[in-house]
Amino acid sequence: MPHRLLHEEPVARIRLPYGEGHAWLVTRYEDVKQISSDLRMSRARTVGRPLPSTTPHTLAPAGGVGRADPPEHTRLRKLIAPTFGRRRIAALRGHTARRAERAARDLLETGPPADVAERYVGPLSAAVVAELLGVPAADLDRVQEWRAGLLSHDTTADAGEAVKKEIAGYFADLARHRAEHPADDLISELAAARAAGGVSTPELVALAVMLTLNGLDAVRNIVATMVYVLLTHPEQTAKLRAEPTGLPRAVDELLRYIPQRNGVGMPRIATADVEVGGITVRAGEAVHVFYPAANRDPAVFPDPDRLDLTREGAPHLAFGHGAHYCAGAQLARMEAEVMLGTLLATLPRLALAVPPERIAWRTGTVNRGPRTLPVTW
Ligand code: HEM
Repeated sequence: MPHRLLHEEPVARIRLPYGEGHAWLVTRYEDVKQISSDLRMSRARTVGRPLPSTTPHTLAPAGGVGRADPPEHTRLRKLIAPTFGRRRIAALRGHTARRAERAARDLLETGPPADVAERYVGPLSAAVVAELLGVPAADLDRVQEWRAGLLSHDTTADAGEAVKKEIAGYFADLARHRAEHPADDLISELAAARAAGGVSTPELVALAVMLTLNGLDAVRNIVATMVYVLLTHPEQTAKLRAEPTGLPRAVDELLRYIPQRNGVGMPRIATADVEVGGITVRAGEAVHVFYPAANRDPAVFPDPDRLDLTREGAPHLAFGHGAHYCAGAQLARMEAEVMLGTLLATLPRLALAVPPERIAWRTGTVNRGPRTLPVTW
């Protein structure tokens, strides 16, 4: 649908299954960039309003970065910036690569077929973010259960609130523990910032929840989808294998090409009348941007529905744009490069174990990805 809108009604008035009233949906690349970098578009004003939504409960917590405006937003982003900056992520690369090599060797030893989403991508992405934040490995199963509940469209508002309470209690306890026994991880840094008055407990908890959910779910789903796309484009993948230096560019093209979400995410509220794509959005109205549609805008990406792992040109918007640009973009890119590179190098005859149309996709969830991805080699 957003694809049709991109061509026929680039700024469309929409209703969504949950919440109240109308919203605008913006799909063209330039319009999406304009709205997502416009300081008159507020996220803080979404708090406490029954906005049109694709989920029965609001996922992003009030007090979290996703729903804050400057100066609170800037302060929260500064707190986590060092952890997700280039230097820290580069340092994490070697460790992640060794983990990926071990996981790929495990696949080799047990033999085909194997579910590469659940046995390789899922556990690796969970281990990386758990290490960065300081979530003990023994707690990961519990966190994964909360993740599944929170990110399902089937979870009712009440059930969603109950899960949010549990996960908030968990991170509040963890932060309390780290305040007394600091370690080299983000929760310890946030606990120290809280002691110094730089962040409140609800803000700390909202940050931890958001980072954990993104780290576990977005990366698992999108990297598993990347494997699927590579295996269904064998000629381009063979070239990539022969020329692994092309991997970072290929990852960016995969990010552009893959529609990673089932819904439209969190809207912004106009704080003044704003012109976009020839339409006037009135002050107080909600506006959604849809990054996956913008990534297929033919005005910016020639032949946009074609995967071209050597594509150059305009940057994609898979990580968003403007102040709310994904905090984990460097981490996600590094994880994708390491996981795909290791998999292609260790299993040179990797192929889907079933026909592509038999792969089942996660639909009633925030992030889109294969439920399972059986492969052989
Ligand atoms: C390939 C995987 C990922 C994709 C495609 C992705 C994409 C996005 C997008 C589209 C946004 C929203 C931009 C907006 O609100 O307009 C976002 C925000 C965010 N992402 Fe990611 N993300 C990924 C992985 C991660 C990871 C691994 C983390 C951290 C562990 C992370 C942390 C965040 C945070 C904290 C925000 C909120 C930023 C803000 O509102 O200031 N993401 N991401």
